[in-house]
Amino acid sequence: MSKRAKESAPQINRLVVIGLGLIGSSLAIAARQRGLAKHVVGISRRTSTLELALEAGIIDEARESLDEVAAELGPSDVVVIGVPTLTVPAVLKDCRRLLADDVTVTDVASVKGSVCRAAHDIYGELPRQFIPGHPIAGSEKSGVTAANRNLFENHRVILTPNSSTGSEHLSLVEGLWTDVGAVVSKMSTEEHDGILAATSHLPHFLAYSLVDTLAGMGDNREIFRYAAGGFRDFTRIAASDPVMWRDIALANREAILTILDQVMGNFQTLRKAIDGGDQQYLMDVFTQARDARNHFSKLLEDKSLQGSMKDKRINYHIVPGGKAQGTVRVPGDKSMSHRSIMLGSLAEGMTEVTGFLEGEDSLATLQAFRDMGVLIEGPEQGRLVIHGVGLHGLKSPEKPLYMGNSGTSIRLLSGLLAGQSFDTELTGDTSLSGRPMGRVADPLVSMGAVIDTAKGGTPPLKIKGGQQLKAIDYVMPMASAQVKSCVLLAGLYAKGETSVTEPAPTRDHTERMLRGFGYPVSVSDSAARLSGGGRLEAARIDVPADISSAAFFMVAASITPGSDITLHHVGVNPTRIGVINILRQMGAQISLTNEIEIGGEPVADIRVQYAKLEGIEIPESQVPLAIDEFPSIFIAAACAQGETILTGAKELRVKESDRIQSMADGLNTLGINAVATDDGIRIVGGTIGSGRVLSHHDHRIAMAFAIAGLRAQGEIIVEDCNNVATSFPDFINCAATVGLVINVETVND
Ligand code: S3P
Repeated sequence: MSKRAKESAPQINRLVVIGLGLIGSSLAIAARQRGLAKHVVGISRRTSTLELALEAGIIDEARESLDEVAAELGPSDVVVIGVPTLTVPAVLKDCRRLLADDVTVTDVASVKGSVCRAAHDIYGELPRQFIPGHPIAGSEKSGVTAANRNLFENHRVILTPNSSTGSEHLSLVEGLWTDVGAVVSKMSTEEHDGILAATSHLPHFLAYSLVDTLAGMGDNREIFRYAAGGFRDFTRIAASDPVMWRDIALANREAILTILDQVMGNFQTLRKAIDGGDQQYLMDVFTQARDARNHFSKLLEDKSLQGSMKDKRINYHIVPGGKAQGTVRVPGDKSMSHRSIMLGSLAEGMTEVTGFLEGEDSLATLQAFRDMGVLIEGPEQGRLVIHGVGLHGLKSPEKPLYMGNSGTSIRLLSGLLAGQSFDTELTGDTSLSGRPMGRVADPLVSMGAVIDTAKGGTPPLKIKGGQQLKAIDYVMPMASAQVKSCVLLAGLYAKGETSVTEPAPTRDHTERMLRGFGYPVSVSDSAARLSGGGRLEAARIDVPADISSAAFFMVAASITPGSDITLHHVGVNPTRIGVINILRQMGAQISLTNEIEIGGEPVADIRVQYAKLEGIEIPESQVPLAIDEFPSIFIAAACAQGETILTGAKELRVKESDRIQSMADGLNTLGINAVATDDGIRIVGGTIGSGRVLSHHDHRIAMAFAIAGLRAQGEIIVEDCNNVATSFPDFINCAATVGLVINVETVND
């Protein structure tokens, strides 16, 4: 991954590295070769180490002790203490004795509590010039000969400053680590030591202990001869530097003992389960561990391969022109994916789901149910097995349930959680934290639920458990499937028959899927009804491709001369096909083939060919049926002849962004006449120019402007596209298969 090149003069004058082990020498060479300091000095007591360091170009100058350089050091000099953890206090004493108080001092020890306590004892306080640090990088190799200028690329460095830390010192150290390619995080020393005890220290001790146990066994040569890949993988870190790990064991004693006790307790239980042939326990533990491992491997891959994308913004650069040709299967339906987890978890028995959307939104729902004790295998290529716990089998989660960007997760879950025996708290990201939740809290409160929202009716939601809910007849003030589903899910736990009447038809996946799980739901006169106290039986769910994701390609083909694409196995539930109806009314050529019904949901292949589009007045009756597709429909309108007018769509203002304003602003930037109105928009078709538009962190705005590139005169840059991963993680590759070229720029803030 390419990094910011250092174009300006180095911020650091002298970088003095005390201790030329793996970390110290790697930092020295990384800084020296990137020109981050005018002069790099290495200090070691061993002449041979200093000679090697000079020879390998790791340092500019070699010294045997700090005394020899201390007097020359001042404000823009940085001293890095790179010695083993237990030796840090001795070096800190030298620093106190020799250095002026404007010299920045930092360390790289793996334990921060003991280092900070030592600094406190030596200086009488944590000195403002001292920045405790820990690069989470390393290898089982040690010493100056293992120096690696890229060791810190895309690795985390944790700094543990406190309130007395000097900001000028902090920014020098932070800048140094960032410039050698690391990702800097800050936290308290206690938090650091607890996390590292579990994720780094414990695995090393397990590896040392296993190898030592085997080495002590009778014919250990025979044993090691047959040890295969698993043993090698697991014990690689037992080749690490013993001095370093002895120091860590002693320095982080408390935190390590806590986690060690926990693991030893689990070992005892595992032993009992093996002894007693407890298959269920073994399956549960191994499956949960495998899934947790897969989940975190993905996170790790993101960190190391994509340069910690999550923490960085990505912009799309859309190469203008192209033609949409071919066949695409877009990812699984988001609404159905959420519901499959919820109902599968509450059912009795094992539910198998295929076609599950592995996007961040539905994964947030999945994680929430894992946090409430549901065993869920997968996802593996869209396949999940959910071990349902029944309507009353959820367990109290240990921490707030994090819903990320997902409105569907938080709103549907609030209904379901209002009927549980335990308290819960639901939180989300910045966008979700600004979205209205009164629309679900109000009906739930009238059912007897106890819910607190933040000021202004937004998340976090605090839901008090143990309430007996009562059925209500709810007439929704807005057409919202999320509100309808929330009330129906609460209705599962309520006494009596709950009904929800909607002002216009909205997606009915909850009603259909409940029936698929054997739960009676009746629908008549725009009202859905169910009675509490029933049970759900495990089912098989095949999630079709999401029409909301397919919509981008339907518009892509419709606006680009010569295009012809087929979207495979798309859900075409009548409450979702507003986009087809609207585009057809504009003149689009869309045909459905292979129409079948799977698990109570209609599915079809959708073929779309280029056609000249005309502006229309969009019928208000279509608004709820196309509610998520308007960003792409607006792009179709921008390419149509004449004016397109949308009214009755105020709901668009409270989606992941204000989609009316976000789209109007972006279209104007691209030279299209678009005027936002209170409840809709007027768009006059024209020529799409080029420019830089904002996605407002909204996945669908980002993808809509990407599609616009097909008809643009020049490059369109869409800012902040990370959230595309919430609903369409593979968008760029999918788009490439039909001829749309999107380059990704990673932005270092
Ligand atoms: C959804 C319902 C819609 C939609 C959202 C998913 C659902 O929201 O915009 O993306 O799965 O129930 P509203 O019901 O608030 O319109």
